[in-house]
Order: sequence, then structure tokens, then C-alpha cells
Amino acid sequence: MNYKENITYTELNDVAKKLISNSHSSYDEVCDSHFPLTDDEKRIVHFSEELISIRAHPIYKQMDNEQKINLSQLELINFFSLTIHGEAFLIENMKAYIPLIDDKEVQHYLRIFIDEEVNHTYWFKKFCKSVKQPIVDSQNFQLGSQGEKVRTHKGFLFFFVKVYLFEQVSMIYNRILSKDSNLPALVRSINQQHLIEEGRHVSFGINFIEHLFSRLAPLYPKLVDELNFQVNSFEQILLHGMFNPEIYEKCQINQPYKVKKEALEDPTVHNWFHLNFKHASLELRKRNFLT
Ligand SMILES: [Fe+2]
Ligand SMILES: [Fe+2]
Repeated sequence: MNYKENITYTELNDVAKKLISNSHSSYDEVCDSHFPLTDDEKRIVHFSEELISIRAHPIYKQMDNEQKINLSQLELINFFSLTIHGEAFLIENMKAYIPLIDDKEVQHYLRIFIDEEVNHTYWFKKFCKSVKQPIVDSQNFQLGSQGEKVRTHKGFLFFFVKVYLFEQVSMIYNRILSKDSNLPALVRSINQQHLIEEGRHVSFGINFIEHLFSRLAPLYPKLVDELNFQVNSFEQILLHGMFNPEIYEKCQINQPYKVKKEALEDPTVHNWFHLNFKHASLELRKRNFLT
């Protein structure tokens, strides 16, 4: 622990208490009722067309219906895989950080938070297994902060800002997927339940970040610059995670890395992601944690 950082969490006690009483997960009941996919559901799209990473690339426009369905199913597996990797980082680092928190209610809520993430991971993995698709490797995707140990308050702030942004961006995807009537009911319900529970996580997250930021800012005059750097590089990491050549290859797309590069260069898709990322970070900028 850095000797300068003496953070107390007792002021977050009320926020934690409120969220503890609101945290009743119905994930299992809701998703179980739609499980497993029927044979017909296995033959339809699983990811909304507006979210398909290479939707603006000429290669997508040349695909027949069957190829588009196959790609959409793998895009969902990629999205669930990214979430599984993100949740694993989150669980590991949060468990390590809890002992540094001096308030029992805040600790209690963070344990609920971890339990919910464990449950999400279970559902994402169960879905992947049921459609016989391995979790996609995303070695380059990480929420850990660059150059800062996560087991300090400052390291945790950097880490938790990325968790918050990842949750906000995931919620944009969850919202679209949960409303798309072209998708199987199970896919919609997993996304709908994730959306509800992530809503609680981000509402805790912004309070948690504010608390930590206001106490660390006087100790670290360049904190905003450092956060800007962390967030800008995280936007690129997340964007690249959404364009996965491994799934293009599975769809028999030639030169998958070239297709990824070209798809990322498309201004409409790039701007769409950038605007959503900006929207996800709106509260952080409003509170002057970022410029
Ligand atoms: Fe989650
Ligand atoms: Fe979450």
C-alpha cells in the first residue's frame, strides 16, 4: 500500500446498503425458462445486424444468408467471450482489493457484485457450450491498468474506471440484443438480465469512482492526464476486441486480418463505436475525471 493513500470508505455506506437491498438476481429463473435453444433457433441469427463488426465491409455484403447467420452466431460468441474475460479480471482484482476497504457494507455489496459476475460468466459459458462453440481467445483484451499495480487505491481506480466503461459499453450491446425480435428468446433474455444487473453495477461504479478520485486527486496532480491515457488506450483495446479475425477465419473469410484492418478503417463503423464509447464515458467527463 502506498503510504500516501489513506482512503476510508465509510461515506459510501448508504449507497452500498441501498444496492444490497435492491440486488435480487432473477437470472437463473428467467434464462432457464428459455434454455436450451430449439433446432429452429439454432438456425437463425444470434447477433443484431447493426452490431456486426464487418457490417460495412464489402465482404459482408457479398455473403449469402447462411454465411451471415453463421457470422452472427460467432459474433455473439465473441461478445460473450470478451465479457467472460472481462469478468474474470474483475473478479480477481476485486477479491484482492476488498481487504483494503474499511467499511463492512461496502465490502458486503462488492461480494454481491462478484457473485453476480460469477453468475453472468456461468450463463455466457453455458450458452457457448450448448452451441458447441469454444470461448474465443482474447489474449490482447485486458482490463488491468498499464504500469500500475491493481492492488493499490490508485491502481484500483484505473482498473475500476475501465470496468465501469466496459460495463457501460456492454449495456449498449445488451440493450440492442435484448430488443431484437430476430434473435432467439434465450439470447434476448440473457442480454436483458445482464442489462438489469449491470445497471446496478454502474450506479455503484460511478459513486465508487467519485469517492476514490476525490481522495486521490490531491495526492496525484496528474491524475486526470493519467486517467485520460488509460481510457484512450482502453477504447482501442475494446474496439479491437470487437473485431476478431479468429471468427472471420471460422466463416471461411480469406485474409481475416486484412478484413479486420479494413473494417476498422471504415469511418461509419469507427465513428459508431467512438460515439458509443464517448456516451459510455459521459458521466466521467461531466464530473471532470476525464477531459
Ligand atoms: Fe457481468
Ligand atoms: Fe458487472
